[in-house]
Amino acid sequence: MNERILIADDDPDIRDGCAQVLSRLGCDISETSTGKDALRLLDRYEFDLLLLDLKMPDINGLDLLRTIREQDETLPVIMITAYGTIQNAVEAMRMGANDFLPKPFEPEELRLVVRRTLNAKRLQLENLYLREELKKKEGDVSIIGQSPPLLKIFDQVKRLAPTDSTVLITGESGTGKGLLARYIHELSHRSEHPFVSVDCSTLVPSLFESELFGHVKGAFTGADSNKVGKFELAGGGTLFLDEIANINLELQAKLLKAVEEKEISRVGSQRITKVDVRIIAATNRDLRQAVQEGKFREDLYFRLNVVAIKTPTLRERKDDIPLLADYFLKKSSAKYNRQGLGLTPAAINLMQSYRWPGNVRELENTMERVVIFATGKSIDVEDIEAAGLRQGSGEMTRPVRAESSRQAAYGSENGDTPLTLQEVEKQHILKVLEQTGGNRTEAARLLKIDRKTLRSKLKKWGYEDD
Ligand SMILES: Nc1ncnc2c1ncn2[C@@H]1O[C@H](COP(=O)(O)OP(=O)(O)OP(=O)(O)O)[C@@H](O)[C@H]1O
Ligand SMILES: [Mg+2]
Repeated sequence: MNERILIADDDPDIRDGCAQVLSRLGCDISETSTGKDALRLLDRYEFDLLLLDLKMPDINGLDLLRTIREQDETLPVIMITAYGTIQNAVEAMRMGANDFLPKPFEPEELRLVVRRTLNAKRLQLENLYLREELKKKEGDVSIIGQSPPLLKIFDQVKRLAPTDSTVLITGESGTGKGLLARYIHELSHRSEHPFVSVDCSTLVPSLFESELFGHVKGAFTGADSNKVGKFELAGGGTLFLDEIANINLELQAKLLKAVEEKEISRVGSQRITKVDVRIIAATNRDLRQAVQEGKFREDLYFRLNVVAIKTPTLRERKDDIPLLADYFLKKSSAKYNRQGLGLTPAAINLMQSYRWPGNVRELENTMERVVIFATGKSIDVEDIEAAGLRQGSGEMTRPVRAESSRQAAYGSENGDTPLTLQEVEKQHILKVLEQTGGNRTEAARLLKIDRKTLRSKLKKWGYEDD
């Protein structure tokens, strides 16, 4: 345990006794004999626990507790009381104390109650983290491939993972930057601790600071409780800053400070908290160019770019396409309960000659569509084409925009955002209906779904009345 504990008690014997017992547990101890000074210290530094005397010379312990709770709902507080009546303890607990310790107490009682309170706090933090993780529902890290560019990356990662060095991952969209960041974390000595990722492109700039550093209640309109930031959530682990090029200069300055000093303070608070995180950042933009254009701070760039890894595009590792295609085919087959599908050599050939502007993600999505629409066990050229790839389109020599090939079969109104599966399904069904001249029974037969399912889908999309 290296928790920081503040002991606020006017009795020097109690302070000494507690300090001795708790520093033997490995805790960092601060002491004070007045309520006023306790408030000052709490405002200036971050503590993990407060041992608070109920009767202090300047402020009544209960009043002090009320003031503390107004500022910080999460700080664990244990009340010490010489007037160990149930009434005092009940009142303290009602006002938000986590536990109480009646004087006189044995060292063992102190150890017990401190441990119990700190564990509860840790569980609370872990729960927060687990909830975040559940939201993401991220699976295992398996990086598929054995082509020379990928082997080079494995080699780099093996050497850098065990260090605490900051890593900057660059590469085109869909090349596996996010996956690689997680993989580095898994191979590091931090793997038992959280991997917390922040997508810098989706956050509103005004809320970004609080997302990273947390905030205290009342820091701004809408901040109606204390919030732990990602830096603290990632404690002991890795903080992944995805799409780092998207943050503004003001926040870049704050981030630089946090990365350099390994200290943060929550928005609206003066308190400084030490953080122990490894930073991995990723971007698909050219950060050096952003620096030249004055859009990215040079000092932050150098801070992040201690070790740089560039993920290869899929067209630079065509050898991996059969392996990856098979991997994603199996993955989707399992998801849609359509096991036993296999790719023909011609289908693989087609995929190897395609340019893959959306890289591995595009291949993954293509395989998912293939599984959804496949009519037989063997996946051939037509099935791949039906899923959006066309022979000759997007081939290596001709520069093609990410969506153009897909648009050939399924049009997206906005070429920059990929279609959702539901949208693809809808467009495919409408196309088949068109082919059958609006004959639903025939369309359902071709689609291998029953007529009722087809009807309910059309109804959902507003093509069918009643
Ligand atoms: N080598 C690989 N083996 C298995 N799956 C991979 C591999 N590379 C990428 N993927 C998968 O491809 C998808 C895209 O990868 P990821 O999100 O990591 O890419 P990215 O480079 O972060 O993309 P973007 O810049 O768009 O965020 C993910 O589902 C990922 O699991
Ligand atoms: Mg990503």
